[in-house]
Amino acid sequence: MGKQNLILAFESSCDETSVAVVEDGAKVLSNVVATQIASHQRFGGVVPEVASRHHIEQITKCTKEALERAGVSYQDLTAVAVTYGPGLVGSLLIGVTAAKTIAWAHHLPLVPVNHMAGHLYAARFISEFTFPMMGLLVSGGHTELVYMKNEHEYEIIGETRDDAAGEAYDKVGRVMGINYPAGKTVDQWAAKGTDTFHFPRAMEKEDNFDFSFSGLKSAFINTVHNAKQRHQELNQNDLAASFQQSVVDVLVIKTLRALDEYPVKQLILAGGVAANQGLRTQLEKSMQESHPEVKLLRAPLKYCGDNAAMIGAAGYVNYLHGDRADGSLNATPGLSFPHHQE
Ligand code: KG4
Ligand code: ZN
Repeated sequence: MGKQNLILAFESSCDETSVAVVEDGAKVLSNVVATQIASHQRFGGVVPEVASRHHIEQITKCTKEALERAGVSYQDLTAVAVTYGPGLVGSLLIGVTAAKTIAWAHHLPLVPVNHMAGHLYAARFISEFTFPMMGLLVSGGHTELVYMKNEHEYEIIGETRDDAAGEAYDKVGRVMGINYPAGKTVDQWAAKGTDTFHFPRAMEKEDNFDFSFSGLKSAFINTVHNAKQRHQELNQNDLAASFQQSVVDVLVIKTLRALDEYPVKQLILAGGVAANQGLRTQLEKSMQESHPEVKLLRAPLKYCGDNAAMIGAAGYVNYLHGDRADGSLNATPGLSFPHHQE
């Protein structure tokens, strides 16, 4: 048997500190995730300074644990991969510094990874990739359709003009009294309700691949405030279901339109909001009806949220393509894929 490639991967772009060991970009040997959610909840969102301090406290422990759980030592590693953007600068810097230090100390190649490429590669744990592909990336900070003509090529063909899908979930959840991050609870309530409010579906009919969620958010908040003024009780499950149906409809319609225009072999659904049951179900059903020729790869639930295993999978591809960084690697908070040029 040939020698396996073992990547030690770091992820610290937002509020999860994560370190993983991934074999040949497809097999997770360990994936340690230290979440800080409890520390941010009382503020109703992520506080950057609090996040950085947590990453500093956790990163060494997580690294040790990731190596132990995988049953490997530094000598067994092929490379070190790290998220260097997009994300919070102070958070990113902790992972970048840890990865640089380990790469330098153990004479290992340092491989920079875009966090969004990482999200896409969460789907690599369920299937090999066949190009060209399309990716629907839905997270707390991003909502974008990414065209991948070949391996290691990413182009944004559409994105949100305002709020990200996860951000809209969190804001609407807050109005309903749900703790940050609210997505999962709204999803659970939605499953028990029906779409009775018929909120707007923004940009549904526009001939592009862009999204917008701020109008939906405002419509939702107005509905709740008006009811409060009239001392009227609204059904929380129906509110959640109505909001979710509007988000899911827009995401699915735009994605199917992208598939009409870009013939691809596979579609990836990834990012924190890809854990949404309504979205997972409706996208699968709609694709079976209108694009049965495209294989849907839904990122496994446990790899939808931020984690280092996905960075190890994307990092392996970058490693094979010769991407290398040195001690000058810096956090790049605004890192983005290039936009598709007509
Ligand atoms: O990708 P992620 O873990 O972090 C970022 O890179 O942003 O995404 C986090 C987002 C949060 O906004 C959270 O509310 C949302 O994903 N989320 C969900 C669900 N689970 C998490 N949104 C809708 N339905 C879910 N089941
Ligand atoms: Zn993320």
